[in-house]
Amino acid sequence: MRCIVFVITTLIVHLSEATTGGGKASKISLNDGNSIPALGLGTFLGFDEKGQKEVKPGDSEKPVKWALEAGYRLIDTAALYLNEDQIGAAVRASGIPREDIFIVTKLPMDNQRDVVKQLEKSLARLNMSYVDLYLIHNPVAFNPGFKGFDIVDYLDTWKGMEEAKNLGLAKSIGISNFNTTQIDRILENGQIKPSVLQVEVNLHLGQDKLIDYCKRNGIVVMAFSPFGPMFHDSLPSIRPDDPTLVAIAEKHGKSVTQIVLRYLIQKGVVPIPKSVKKNRIEENIDVFDFNLSSEDMNKIGTFNKEKRTVGMSFWQDHPYYPFEKSDQVHDNPFESAN
Ligand SMILES: *[C@@H]1O[C@H](CO)[C@@H](O)[C@H](O)[C@H]1NC(C)=O
Ligand SMILES: *[C@@H]1O[C@H](CO)[C@@H](O)[C@H](O)[C@H]1NC(C)=O
Ligand SMILES: *[C@@H]1O[C@H](CO)[C@@H](O)[C@H](O)[C@H]1NC(C)=O
Repeated sequence: MRCIVFVITTLIVHLSEATTGGGKASKISLNDGNSIPALGLGTFLGFDEKGQKEVKPGDSEKPVKWALEAGYRLIDTAALYLNEDQIGAAVRASGIPREDIFIVTKLPMDNQRDVVKQLEKSLARLNMSYVDLYLIHNPVAFNPGFKGFDIVDYLDTWKGMEEAKNLGLAKSIGISNFNTTQIDRILENGQIKPSVLQVEVNLHLGQDKLIDYCKRNGIVVMAFSPFGPMFHDSLPSIRPDDPTLVAIAEKHGKSVTQIVLRYLIQKGVVPIPKSVKKNRIEENIDVFDFNLSSEDMNKIGTFNKEKRTVGMSFWQDHPYYPFEKSDQVHDNPFESAN
């Protein structure tokens, strides 16, 4: 009897590994026939008082190594994050076949006129022959080195993205931080549909309308900043010790952050929590062995305030700025980094 149970369990494990490439996350189909893991690792190290944080050797390589060991098969980076070399090194060192790992990178915001050349530079840094997904980082473009706005039509940039896909340098192509008016324009004028939109989604910024729009158009939504302001003490928000969230977490024997990630997954979006701590990285992907009930989902949904944590108001005078404009305009942190 025990032997039969063992055989069956092994069989199930093997079957699920066959469909997830050895990873822990389930997979979601994209509109171009490819598929993406349902959760991934974000790798942007963020800012400090001097601007964009300097990336030191190992800063991104170690977290990616831990993530791959923990069963992640989706890693999100960008030319702007200055860590593509470390991501590539961690993937090669893992011994996991390249084709089992889904690598996302993004077009630099300060070079949106020569997409294929920029992707080739990213591929050289990654030391890879293709990426799984290439995204236009933002509809807002700058001159090289962030020296002022570049008013380049994102439809022209999209043509370059299509060329990158046709050349096989990117298996899938998509956009990030675009609004529905802008996506409509791409859908009307492009040859290839975007397969993914990456935007901020969390308990405070539910983005229900945008997510519905994407579902209707066959576009998968990836969620950056999935915890929103939860751990920013300066922002008034839901705290990780909120009694409603704690009660749901306790009921499932999980942590509040795991509940948040599971909520986003059941909403149909792909969260990419960023962490550089091994225990956090492991905890964040341990969300595929339970389900939230529709009652849990509704309770968690009531925290939505449609409020952004990642504002980009310093770019709001650009004609393609995608979001509502703000009265409080901060300095562009990327400019001060240069
Ligand atoms: C690039 O990858 C190849 C294996 O695909 C490896 O032999 C080479 O050392 C790598 N180069 C760098 C700079 O890491
Ligand atoms: C969660 O729900 C899905 C589909 O609704 C089901 O296939 C899966 O077995 C459930 N998982 C658990 C751990 O209950
Ligand atoms: C999207 O951005 C464009 C350009 O900034 C703006 O004109 C348009 O009103 C925005 N649409 C939505 C739905 O926010």
